[in-house]
Amino acid sequence: MQQVLDLIGSYVGEAFETAGYDRTLGKVTVSNRPDLCEYQCNGAMAGAKLYHKAPIAIAEELVEILEGGDAFEMVSAVRPGFINLRLSPQFLADYLNEERKDERLGVPAAEHPRTVIVDYGGANVAKPLHVGHLRSAVIGESIKRISRFLGNQVLGDVHLGDWGLQMGLIITELRHRSPDLPYFDDAFTGSYPEEAPFTISELEEIYPFASKKSKEDESYKAEALEATHQLQMGKRGYYALWQHILNVSVKDLKKNYDSLSVTFDLWKKESDAQPYIPDLVSYLKDKGYARYDQGALVVDVEEETDSKKIPPCMILKSDGASLYNTTDLATIIMRMENWQPDDIIYVVDKRQELYFTQVFRCARKTKLVKEDTGLYFLGFGTMNGKDGKPFKTREGGVMRLENLIADIGEEMYRKIMENHEADPEEARETARLVALSAIKYGDLSNQASKDYIFDVDKFTSFEGNTGPYILYTIVRIKSILRRYLGEAGDAKDLSSLTILPPLSDAEKALGLALTRFAPAVLSAGADRAPHRICNYIYELANEFNRFYHETPILTENQPAQRDSYIALIDLTKRILECGIDLLGFEAPERM
Ligand code: ARG
Repeated sequence: MQQVLDLIGSYVGEAFETAGYDRTLGKVTVSNRPDLCEYQCNGAMAGAKLYHKAPIAIAEELVEILEGGDAFEMVSAVRPGFINLRLSPQFLADYLNEERKDERLGVPAAEHPRTVIVDYGGANVAKPLHVGHLRSAVIGESIKRISRFLGNQVLGDVHLGDWGLQMGLIITELRHRSPDLPYFDDAFTGSYPEEAPFTISELEEIYPFASKKSKEDESYKAEALEATHQLQMGKRGYYALWQHILNVSVKDLKKNYDSLSVTFDLWKKESDAQPYIPDLVSYLKDKGYARYDQGALVVDVEEETDSKKIPPCMILKSDGASLYNTTDLATIIMRMENWQPDDIIYVVDKRQELYFTQVFRCARKTKLVKEDTGLYFLGFGTMNGKDGKPFKTREGGVMRLENLIADIGEEMYRKIMENHEADPEEARETARLVALSAIKYGDLSNQASKDYIFDVDKFTSFEGNTGPYILYTIVRIKSILRRYLGEAGDAKDLSSLTILPPLSDAEKALGLALTRFAPAVLSAGADRAPHRICNYIYELANEFNRFYHETPILTENQPAQRDSYIALIDLTKRILECGIDLLGFEAPERM
């Protein structure tokens, strides 16, 4: 389906041509003065220079040609040379009826689909998910859904951190607590127990304990570093323990991501990239990309145009150990080999920006990716509490993700039960959905790179620019549709209804908003900016509510008019639902 702007742009372009001017002058934009007109074309101004004429004279010529056409109910020339346009009600109705028939709701699918890997989530095994990981999961999930909806081949990869010091710390602490376990017996050659020697809650206690201890106790820290090294060298007992840690932890992570409606196509881990490291190292050396600097192997990534210093990308430490960089470069090789992505998008805390600059430059310089492979860093800001400091529990501790979700769910449940009598079981499920919308919309409605304040009262409000407000609007439409269908009997098929030309300003404004879904999704996709979808659906929800308050829908006594209203709000519902699906949440039946 063609975009409204392109359609009317081509009419205006044709008119320019008819008048003897270049048709590219006919570019049309959405008006920034909605009080005067809906669309505008500034081509007469550009034409004035080319054709040495007064802009208003050209604009007036154009108006004369366009006035006869079907697309506009108003065309006017305004000094110095603007062409102001208003769509004809019939044109708008026709367009909306087409949009209703299109299962993509007017959003064109990519002509040249790309293979895209979205690296998000990034949880670290054995550490509980905390709110810091929330943003990566929520933003990444939305980026994935938007790109997929636009027709690309998209793979989400959680890229778990499972190869760092946290593993050595846990192993060390386990050895202190239970030195008799077979994992610590070098003479043991049998097979290790199937059962992990700990539960998830024990694991979650062990890690912070060991981490704290290592900061106070040098020799303990040295032990943990050595254990990490031994694990990475493949020591049998440690490897078996690592496997246990992974199994127990991943099960728990999956549960948490599930509760956030966040899913991954690939559950790859840092450790999966390790086999690629030896070849990477010899490649970088053989090709002369890498050099030794005080014993460490590095690749220079400075560029002449840098305004600040970009340090070299370190590949191996002087003791031969690999680093976070090494793993990320090896992961790029693994991805290129297995999935040949056109783009890789990293959704990571913006404090890692310099780091990713190094990694990307190194990957390009050393030709680990193709010249036209897109490497994008989508850095997000911090989620703060109302005090402006990173979000904490009431007691000042680190807020765990599952507790945050549970708390907001509780708050929503209270509100729902307070509003009206509801079946407690249904209310629980509704509260879960509404809570998710509050959390995700609260996050996504901000530009990702900015810090934002997680304000529970604001995010859970049914009014204003919030997730619950959007859901409330959808639920309101669902209830009207239910009543309509209830009266008309099951025989009524909504898709057979026709939208008639709008009768009021509010109805027209709603219709125009409905035509702007495609541009909003396209722009959100191109700039990897989910907040554009939030802006759009908020605007649409507002237009719907204005129309709803002004228009008696079910009590309209002209059947064709009533059907038209129903078709219009059904389209509104479909677009709002598609919009929130792209953001990663869904609406309940009732609220
Ligand atoms: N695990 C990392 C962290 O918690 C995030 C991983 C981001 N992705 C990557 N490819 N480095 O900081």
